[in-house]
Amino acid sequence: MSESILKLEQVSYRYPDGTCALDRCSLQIGTGSRTAVLGANGAGKTTLFLHLNGILRPAAGQVCWHGTPLEYSRSGLRELRSRVGLVFQNPDSQLFSASVREDVSFGPLNLGLSEAAVCELVGQALQAVGMAEFTDKPVHNLSFGQKKRVCIAGVLAMQPDVVVLDEPMAGLDASVQRELLHVLDTLYTNGMTIVIATHDLDFAYGWADQVIVLQSGRLLAQGRPEVVLEHPDVAEELGALPFVAELTRHLALNGIDLCDKGYQPRSRHDLLTALGARSNQEEKP
Ligand SMILES: Nc1ncnc2c1ncn2[C@@H]1O[C@H](COP(=O)(O)OP(=O)(O)OP(=O)(O)O)[C@@H](O)[C@H]1O
Ligand SMILES: [Mg+2]
Repeated sequence: MSESILKLEQVSYRYPDGTCALDRCSLQIGTGSRTAVLGANGAGKTTLFLHLNGILRPAAGQVCWHGTPLEYSRSGLRELRSRVGLVFQNPDSQLFSASVREDVSFGPLNLGLSEAAVCELVGQALQAVGMAEFTDKPVHNLSFGQKKRVCIAGVLAMQPDVVVLDEPMAGLDASVQRELLHVLDTLYTNGMTIVIATHDLDFAYGWADQVIVLQSGRLLAQGRPEVVLEHPDVAEELGALPFVAELTRHLALNGIDLCDKGYQPRSRHDLLTALGARSNQEEKP
């Protein structure tokens, strides 16, 4: 894996009521990578994310940024939060301004940028999430999915190095999900590190460079999706295999091996392409 941009070393965290939400958790996020974080409800994904931008501080262990332990001073946290943008699971936890423009402007204004620069960044960010036409709308009148997109714009307008998104697809319709994926692909191509918590195994299998699986606050597995998500312990914990992996296995058992020459389909698109290529070959005399 590339050099880590964020790393947890033996991090433990307990909420004030005594719940142990992270338990000696060690993991790393590679610079410029796409990481999917998986785990059952209550496994600790959101708690992990709140550690990545310093909202929560480990009770034991440490979080490192480019190999250096985080500084929890005012200025250290300010710097960290300008580099690591977090999109919350629930948009109502994130939005607090009256209008869309005000909300998305808040972060870049706090970075001390000029009004003209902020205006430009806000315009670009809202455009990227397909919300430009809602710039002057009151936040409280937006639908759930629109609010989520405004939250993402608020983070993009900060131009961070890492975007951490807590279940970004939940509650979005299929076409908005596709648009959001397109936005994330562009960010990734431009070198941004992207971390997503999701319950969607198929998405994680096809999209991620690496997956992290949490189980009761502990790291169960970390690595390439086709290695981790097909491991029997992980499949048991998550309750299923990714559909493409399951179908590929089923086809192999029935004499159709799509994985010869080391190729392994990870998305519906890969699968259809591999099947198409195979039937073309078979048609040739
Ligand atoms: N503010 C809190 N006070 C006490 N316990 C909490 C608090 N927030 C979370 N927890 C507990 O910490 C554990 C981890 O919760 P967390 O929200 O990180 O899980 P998650 O993996 O994000 O779950 P989900 O998939 O439902 O979003 C759970 O047992 C949860 O009940
Ligand atoms: Mg959560």
